[in-house]
Amino acid sequence: MNPPSPWRLFLFWSLIFMCLTILSSGLNTIKCRAHAFSIKEATIDDIQLAFRHTQLTSRQLVEFYLNEIQRLNPLLRGVIEVNPDALYLADKADHERSTKAPVSLSKLHGIPILLKDNIATKDKLNTTAGSLALLGSIVPRDAGVVVKLRKAGAVILGKASLSEWAHFRGSNVPSGWCARSGQGKNPYVLSVDPCGSSSGSAISVAANMAAVSLGTETDGSIICPSDANSVVGIKPTVGLTSRAGVIPISPRQDTVGPMCRTVADAVYVLDAIVGFDHRDKATGEASKYIPYGGYKQFLKLNGLKGKRLGILNNTFDFEDSSISQVFYRHFKTLRKEGAVLVDHPDDFNLEDILSASESDEGAALKAEFKIALNAYLRDLVASPVRSLADAIAFNLKFSKLEMIKEYGQDLFLDAQATTGIGTKEKAALLNLSKLSRDGYEKFMRKNKLDAWMIPGAEGAPILAFEGYPGISVPAGYIEGQPLGILFGGLKGAEPKLIEIAYAFEQATKVRKPPSFRP
Ligand SMILES: *[C@@H]1O[C@H](CO)[C@@H](O)[C@H](O)[C@H]1NC(C)=O
Ligand SMILES: *[C@@H]1O[C@H](CO)[C@@H](O)[C@H](O)[C@H]1NC(C)=O
Ligand SMILES: *[C@@H]1O[C@H](CO)[C@@H](O)[C@H](O)[C@H]1NC(C)=O
Repeated sequence: MNPPSPWRLFLFWSLIFMCLTILSSGLNTIKCRAHAFSIKEATIDDIQLAFRHTQLTSRQLVEFYLNEIQRLNPLLRGVIEVNPDALYLADKADHERSTKAPVSLSKLHGIPILLKDNIATKDKLNTTAGSLALLGSIVPRDAGVVVKLRKAGAVILGKASLSEWAHFRGSNVPSGWCARSGQGKNPYVLSVDPCGSSSGSAISVAANMAAVSLGTETDGSIICPSDANSVVGIKPTVGLTSRAGVIPISPRQDTVGPMCRTVADAVYVLDAIVGFDHRDKATGEASKYIPYGGYKQFLKLNGLKGKRLGILNNTFDFEDSSISQVFYRHFKTLRKEGAVLVDHPDDFNLEDILSASESDEGAALKAEFKIALNAYLRDLVASPVRSLADAIAFNLKFSKLEMIKEYGQDLFLDAQATTGIGTKEKAALLNLSKLSRDGYEKFMRKNKLDAWMIPGAEGAPILAFEGYPGISVPAGYIEGQPLGILFGGLKGAEPKLIEIAYAFEQATKVRKPPSFRP
């Protein structure tokens, strides 16, 4: 680091002097204190404190993010649409705050949130999964999670970009690309894959274009972009959060979860969106996992104490690899914080899971996608396309558009060729479920693990088939490129995973704001 130049020092001391002068003259205390508060990188707790001290309004917050979107989005393309009513909603929140007791307001009250564009909102925003085929469609109602967000007083800021159709249109469609907004960029290193499919949610919170965001995951779609863009992603147990009103891939695997700059922010968002929704049956079954008092009670500094963590990945064996170096350091910290690390635990074969995710999972998802998507499209009030077949025809009709021709729609075509859950799909589903229940669950119990960990997003398929939860936390940078650590567990393990992820984050404090390297 260079020593501060005399000019900088001069500026610094002049600022301090100015502040002191204003303070001592008692003229404009608020304004001076407001200088200490920066919206950039602010957490929900910072923002709520600033609200309480009347240093900040929701309107100022929304204005800041709208400005940043205008400034950064032409490059990053993390946002597809901003909500024309965002300022109105902010004013409403500001008014409520001035009339209600602070204790009656939720952590998300007045907080601007960006939603992945496959999450329906019944307002002026479109819900299109990034596709031109759904532009102008009218949804019947808010998605289940949006109902809960509005009830909590959150401000719906806009829709985040994604890999089009949550990466289920064509296998050659690039991560982070959709027809509506083009190629999303990784704000850390612009030429690096932002990963998907919840790319825009990760890009936007990483670059401070929103306070917090929601993504969705079927297999890796929250975890991978969180890893790539250095944010915290929670992939909840399937059914913990409602999928009603979310453009689907598979009701068996889909889940909605927060993507934020800190574990605490993600947990506050999780607290707001979990729970029963009569439009999604799985929420009934999964409600039993939700602890009394919610999840924020698990944000504990000593959360690693006594936790048994399995080390899954063999990269740790190679001392000279840069990933290993990052992780060896973390292993030391984890041990120091009281965790018991179980090195390469017995009976786990990641390869089996990865190969099933190529074959069996693909077969199951294609059939499930056709059924679930057709049901979603039928339920719309109005839409240019009413079925998967219509969407395919739409793409063909517009196939002259460069990107549609180039990237194709092979997954759409394969899905359209399925005829329900037949013999092949049943056998595939049986395999997936066996690998999960007889393989993964037994492995966890035999080794008495609270969680396992792995660098990057490679472990996502372990969690996918049977709907297990995971949390990705920023773990380091290699030549400026972010690297995350994924903690995974059994169904309903969110309390333990939150304790582990929060204590890890607080002990390491790795995340830095993005630097927009070329
Ligand atoms: C939604 O899409 C329509 C085009 O069908 C467009 O006119 C409108 O501006 C979009 N809404 C927002 C909030 O961008
Ligand atoms: C472990 O993870 C790293 C980084 O994600 C990956 O490059 C490597 O192939 C993995 N190794 C094994 C044996 O799974
Ligand atoms: C199920 O797994 C077995 C053994 O791994 C494999 O031979 C078979 O092809 C799989 N079944 C399907 C339908 O993929």
